[in-house]
Amino acid sequence: MTRRRSAIGNWKMNGLTANLSDVDQIAAAAAQATCGTGLCLPATLLHVARGRVTMPLGGQDCHASESGAHTGDISAGMLADAGASMVIVGHCERHADHGETNEIVAAKSGAAWNAGLTAILCIGETETQYHTGQTRDVLADQIAGSLPEGANADNTIIAYEPVWAIGTGRTPGIGEIAQTHAFIRSRLPDPSLSILYGGSVNASNAAGIFALADVDGGLVGGASLTAEKFVPIIKALEATS
Ligand code: PGA
Repeated sequence: MTRRRSAIGNWKMNGLTANLSDVDQIAAAAAQATCGTGLCLPATLLHVARGRVTMPLGGQDCHASESGAHTGDISAGMLADAGASMVIVGHCERHADHGETNEIVAAKSGAAWNAGLTAILCIGETETQYHTGQTRDVLADQIAGSLPEGANADNTIIAYEPVWAIGTGRTPGIGEIAQTHAFIRSRLPDPSLSILYGGSVNASNAAGIFALADVDGGLVGGASLTAEKFVPIIKALEATS
C-alpha cells in the first residue's frame, strides 16, 4: 500500500480572524496539490475556516472524554462538529504545559478515532535524551505507551518531532532523520502508517527531508502561519512525491 504523504500546518496559539486570508491562500494551493495537506488551526477559527475552504482542517488537542465537566477543554466530537477531520495529540508543548503522560495521549487518540478524526500522534526526544543516546528508547516507549491498539493508516499519522528542534531553527542531520524514521517504522504495529517529520521545517530544508525514504511529509509550525512560507513547503512535498 502506498503511504499517504502530507504537509500539515500547526498554527499553535496563533491566528485571529484577520489571518483567515492566509488560510484562503494556503487552501487555494492545497486544492491544486497532488499530496495531502492539512491545517491544524486554533479551535476558535475552525468553524469559520470550514465555511471558507475545502482543505482538510484539524484541531491541536482534544479531551479524552466525549463531554462533561471539563471547563475549557474541547472534545474530539466538538472538533469534528466544527469541521475538523484530524487532531494533533501528544504534542510536546502539551507535555510541557499540561503534564500530559503517554496514558493520557493514548486515551486522546482513542477519543479522536471515536469521533471519526485522524489522530496525528507526536513523539520525540528532549535535547538531554538526544545527547545521552536515549532517543530510540524514548521513542519506543512513547509508541508503546501512547499508540492504542487498532492504529491503522486511516486513523493515525505519526509525527516525529525532536523537542529540541521545535521552533529553534535546528534539525537533526539528514542521515539521523532517515535512521530515526526507519527505527520508528520498525516499531509500528502497522508499517503503512505515515510518519511525518516536524521541527523547524522550512522552505529551504523541506525538499531534503521529504526525499528520505521513511519520511512521508511534515508537521510544520512557524513556517505554516503564512501562505508565503507554507505553500513552498507543500510544493516541496509534491516535488518529492
Ligand atoms: P516548528 O514547530 O515548525 O515551528 O518547529 C513544529 C511543531 O511543533 O509541530
